Amino acid sequence: MPVVVIVGAQWGDEGKGKVTDFLARDADYVVRYQGGTNAGHTVVIGSQEFRLHLIPSGIFYPDKVCIIGNGAVIDPEVLFQELDAFRDRGLQTARLFISDRAHLLLPYHRLLDELEEESRGKEQIGTTRRGIGPAYVDKVARRGLRVGELREPGWEDRVFQMVVEKNEYIQKLYGAQGFEPEEIVEYLRPYVDRLLPYLADTSLIIAQAVAEGKNILFEGAQGTLLDLDHGTYPYVTSSSPTAGGVCIGAGIGPTSIDLVLGVSKAYTTRVGEGPFPTELVGSQGEEIRQKGREFGTTTGRPRRCGWLDIVMLRYAVRINGINGLIITKLDVLDKMPKVRLCTAYRYKGELLTEFPASLRVLQECVPVYEELDGWQQDTGGARTFSELPAPAQNFVQRIAQLTGVPVVMVSVGPDRQQTVVLREVFSLLEEKIPSGSKGPLYS
Ligand code: IMP
Repeated sequence: MPVVVIVGAQWGDEGKGKVTDFLARDADYVVRYQGGTNAGHTVVIGSQEFRLHLIPSGIFYPDKVCIIGNGAVIDPEVLFQELDAFRDRGLQTARLFISDRAHLLLPYHRLLDELEEESRGKEQIGTTRRGIGPAYVDKVARRGLRVGELREPGWEDRVFQMVVEKNEYIQKLYGAQGFEPEEIVEYLRPYVDRLLPYLADTSLIIAQAVAEGKNILFEGAQGTLLDLDHGTYPYVTSSSPTAGGVCIGAGIGPTSIDLVLGVSKAYTTRVGEGPFPTELVGSQGEEIRQKGREFGTTTGRPRRCGWLDIVMLRYAVRINGINGLIITKLDVLDKMPKVRLCTAYRYKGELLTEFPASLRVLQECVPVYEELDGWQQDTGGARTFSELPAPAQNFVQRIAQLTGVPVVMVSVGPDRQQTVVLREVFSLLEEKIPSGSKGPLYS
């Protein structure tokens, strides 16, 4: 049975939480492979709304196994806040494992994130200030603390030494007050006992699950355009949310992945800074923001909103090898008399159909739009493709045509029920649709 990857095809916040939660029904394992508490997934189950930052969305199914892979960074404070909140609400949760190779995120990372952002002045990245960048910096610089080290005697000395080093930066570079090393050791101590039972060689667990033919869902956080290598650098996160990141961040070989699903909103949003060609700054942008409740789950910041950018989506299809698209929040466009798709950029008289690497170029790109009729009807009650108004069907089909990838699912509201399945996702496997194929879109 399949190993499926769910990736964000835009700048994050595509609604991956709902999609993962929906698909997790058929999965045995749900795995996160990168990022940390910068992610914000909202899952609505009946009248209850849950916000997750670190824990995989499959946590709400007691019969599943959830894994946080080695590619993630673990903030123990937030981890246990989330786990305690589920327990306090009387929820039965999935079994959770955390890779012993994942790196720890400690309070000095959060402080450094703040200080670095402040020091960038007008050049701020707009990070979530959750310490993500500094934690990955430590990992890449080969001085980070892996959670597995907490099993070993003398971890206190390692932490103590790290704080002493960090204080050098914090005090000398930023003139700020550092931390008492003992204070951080004592802060961490109660979490250590709680963390250890969750730790495991999660790559091994996943390999065994693959060998047993289990259904495994890899849940990307953030999105393709926030990928450290393939995103709009430097306005990116410090990990690899793209499908390739699964291999590194979960310890699984590329040959074990069967299917990659890309999640995109019916429009585009972005939090944080950086160029955004299809951004709508006027009342239409505001309408999308209000209707789509486009405010960050993690930071509460208003998200920038604009039309769906097909140039970007095609880029995401290529980088991730997306086999099927999931379009979310179609209902947010319900009242629009006309809807638009950006099919190319105009740059200094040239027509660009591929996403440029240079932010300077991207900044000056003027979107070329294809305008389609809006549907001006409520789609929230649709449960099948044929129940969608004809112009909405046309909009979805046009996205599939322009990207060359079938749309397998459309979300028309936040609830689990508000989902239109065009094709059973796992049927894609049998069809063996190659990524980017121009084959028949709807059977
Ligand atoms: P960081 O990941 O906190 O370092 O932030 C880097 C960039 O990624 C900023 O533009 C953030 O707004 C953005 N970002 C990080 N996590 C998310 C997310 O889950 N959704 C959307 N944007 C995110």
